[in-house]
Amino acid sequence: MSSVVEINNLHKAYGKTRALVGVSLDIDFGIFGLLGPNGAGKTTLLKVLLGLLKPDLGDVKLFGYDYSSQSLAIRNRIGYLGEDQRFYEYMKGDKYLEYIGLLKGLGKEEVQSQTEHLLKEVSLSKSRDKKIKEYSQGMKRRLGLAQALMGNPNIIMLDEPTSNLDPLGRQDFLNIIKEIGKNKTTIILSSNVLGEVELVCDTLALLNQGKVAYKGKWSDLKQSFPGKNLQDIFVEIISGENDE
Ligand SMILES: Nc1ncnc2c1ncn2[C@@H]1O[C@H](COP(=O)(O)OP(=O)(O)OP(=O)(O)O)[C@@H](O)[C@H]1O
Ligand SMILES: [Mg+2]
Repeated sequence: MSSVVEINNLHKAYGKTRALVGVSLDIDFGIFGLLGPNGAGKTTLLKVLLGLLKPDLGDVKLFGYDYSSQSLAIRNRIGYLGEDQRFYEYMKGDKYLEYIGLLKGLGKEEVQSQTEHLLKEVSLSKSRDKKIKEYSQGMKRRLGLAQALMGNPNIIMLDEPTSNLDPLGRQDFLNIIKEIGKNKTTIILSSNVLGEVELVCDTLALLNQGKVAYKGKWSDLKQSFPGKNLQDIFVEIISGENDE
């Protein structure tokens, strides 16, 4: 059976900067970690998967569909939380989610029931009446996660959703993701913190300078570097690649 996401030999450059250089990956159900240092190409890859950027070469298939012929079928099944997600700050949390639901084409009743459910899922029920400008960073990220989940997408892409959160905020966020990952959903979680990806992901890809430096299971990665901590493994893989 084919994978939920199939990425085949992607190349993408911005002028002379090569952001993706022959990336091939298969992603299945569950939580998938997309790791890499700053500038590795994570956001570029997610944007290609979202159909926001066209690759120079190579292709992607989501649920067996590709953007050239079935972009609507794909877009209706994807949720996204971007690395610089902006909100309408004057809106209240619940109204914002309702607005997103309507934008996604859901009916009024469906929007209301999903809003109730999602506010609970991301622990914002008590703050639903506050304006978003009064939310903390952690609350905004959780609201961002809720909008990504609106419409029950089959794939959720989260671009560094825990950056700038304090340890407790990170933990809360990752716990929610872990719960969501138990459903038949595919979550692609990008991060540059190996330790937090380990907490929630079984499989991962490590990008470095636009190339896949490692792909596979956590357990296999750790076995290949016996006795090493995650930070050292991360640095060793990245610096090894950069020596080439
Ligand atoms: N719009 C753009 N125009 C020009 N260069 C870009 C653009 N977007 C990204 N790049 C470059 O492409 C490369 C990959 O960037 P990308 O944002 O995909 O990396 P990233 O892994 O998401 O990094 P970060 O962890 O900092 O978010 C970098 O060298 C970056 O400077
Ligand atoms: Mg990025």
